[in-house]
Amino acid sequence: MVFRRSARRMRWLGCYRLGPIWKALLVFVVIAFAGQLLGVIFNKSWMQPERPQSLYSLPSDNTQGSSLGSCQPHIHIMFLKTHKTASSTVLNLLYRFGEERDLKFALPLGYQFGYPLPFIAQRVKGYKSPHVGEFDIMGNHMRFNKPEVEKVMPPDTFYFSILRDPVALAESSYAYYKNVAPAFRRAKGLGDFADNPYKYYDPRLRNNHYARNLMWFDFGLDHTANFSLALAKRGVAAVRRNFKLILLSEYFDQSMVLLRHALCWPLDAVVSFSLNARQQVPTGRSAWVGKLIAPLALTDKQRVKLREWNALDWHLYQAFNLTFWQEVERFGRSRMETEVALLRTKREVLTRICLRDGGRPIEAGRIRDKTIRPFQSGLVKILGYELQSGLNNATWEACLRMIRPEIQYKDLLDLRQFPRAQQPSFAGGPPLKRESSILRADDHGGKRLVEKDWDGTIMFRNQSLEQADSKVRLR
Ligand SMILES: *[C@@H]1O[C@H](CO)[C@@H](O)[C@H](O)[C@H]1NC(C)=O
Ligand SMILES: *[C@@H]1O[C@H](CO)[C@@H](O)[C@H](O)[C@H]1NC(C)=O
Ligand SMILES: *[C@@H]1O[C@H](CO)[C@@H](O)[C@H](O)[C@H]1NC(C)=O
Ligand SMILES: *[C@@H]1O[C@H](CO)[C@@H](O)[C@H](O)[C@H]1NC(C)=O
Repeated sequence: MVFRRSARRMRWLGCYRLGPIWKALLVFVVIAFAGQLLGVIFNKSWMQPERPQSLYSLPSDNTQGSSLGSCQPHIHIMFLKTHKTASSTVLNLLYRFGEERDLKFALPLGYQFGYPLPFIAQRVKGYKSPHVGEFDIMGNHMRFNKPEVEKVMPPDTFYFSILRDPVALAESSYAYYKNVAPAFRRAKGLGDFADNPYKYYDPRLRNNHYARNLMWFDFGLDHTANFSLALAKRGVAAVRRNFKLILLSEYFDQSMVLLRHALCWPLDAVVSFSLNARQQVPTGRSAWVGKLIAPLALTDKQRVKLREWNALDWHLYQAFNLTFWQEVERFGRSRMETEVALLRTKREVLTRICLRDGGRPIEAGRIRDKTIRPFQSGLVKILGYELQSGLNNATWEACLRMIRPEIQYKDLLDLRQFPRAQQPSFAGGPPLKRESSILRADDHGGKRLVEKDWDGTIMFRNQSLEQADSKVRLR
């Protein structure tokens, strides 16, 4: 299943003619696929620009999937953006939906809400500011903390999140946070880590939460507690209480269908691209590939060990996998198949309409429009896309939303909500320190980055494999 998918993705990327190293590279990219998709709100109105834009009363022709009945679209939404779970794609859907409808986002001061500290309301830009009324949508990284979220979001908010198989998540987390989490830094590879986690892991060290039960942590639960069935069940119950819907990255398209029905959104709002803009081109190619692929190799036994090591996450994932398929059953299997097929067709159509070269990715430096250049880190080259030329304004804009990187998108929404003239003064307590900042030094090898976390700790050096995942300042 995974292999068929990656093969399809490689074919889609137009890279099937590349040599084995490149294939290995792409397989790695697929493995570490968080944030690889960007979405689109594909409103009918921009295919037929002369038609007046009707936001919610979409015609129920057969391109809209099964009917939503007479439900009212949810516009108060809280998405817990978990790490390494394709959650960036989901955030992009929310950004597009909100931007098109002029909804108000609860945005962080930087790019995340004080993570990994538990969320507090003061982290929200404009919280209690007289210029800002009610917030509609919230979705940047945070460590969930219900009472504080409730201070920000309206009572009728729809809460949802996304989970991923903990072993796949560990692979991704290891690749991204290798130099950030002390437990990973000292291990020779993920397999070595899986064999002897206690040798490397000290729960008291900063950033080691990336190395164990990361989802559990993101949900605000105690990730350092030892596993017991009772504890795991309490965690699952807490998540169930707080969240209406839990999606699974392994079944992303089915998740999108469930989501759009839960939210009463048009199918177009959840159609997203396989915009895998992170083909990674190292400076010292094959050596680098070896260095990154080899440490991720796992034996079956090590996979089992990783499940045991992340037992809380594994329990969480299994419980919500069960729930997920019950929901699909309730929705109707064949109805689901039909709608997933429709969604995939729409994605293909969009690729042809929007992207130059059938969506073949190119190096960021060759993308003429700087606002859609994906963020570059020191070690890897992140590829992006160019839009087709000759698109009319409305189409161009809709296509742009689909490929606008997360960082730029947040900046844009921020500016829209807080035009320079009326930046809010932050109410509700002493001013918080800037959440994080990046010092950027351009050199010929690309951009070298040093990121300091909000308390001044250096988090990232050179290597942030995470394309646009919240931690990076472009200016
Ligand atoms: C969890 O178990 C380990 C190993 O058995 C033990 O060293 C540790 O103290 C336990 N932690 C807690 C919080 O009980
Ligand atoms: C999730 O549920 C599906 C359908 O019941 C099943 O095939 C799959 O093995 C489950 N995955 C896990 C990790 O439990
Ligand atoms: C496209 O948008 C630009 C700026 O928003 C505007 O000046 C121009 O007239 C528009 N073109 C068309 C064909 O609508
Ligand atoms: C960062 O890059 C510099 C120069 O390329 C290199 O000397 C240094 O070891 C790198 N640091 C890390 C943590 O990769």
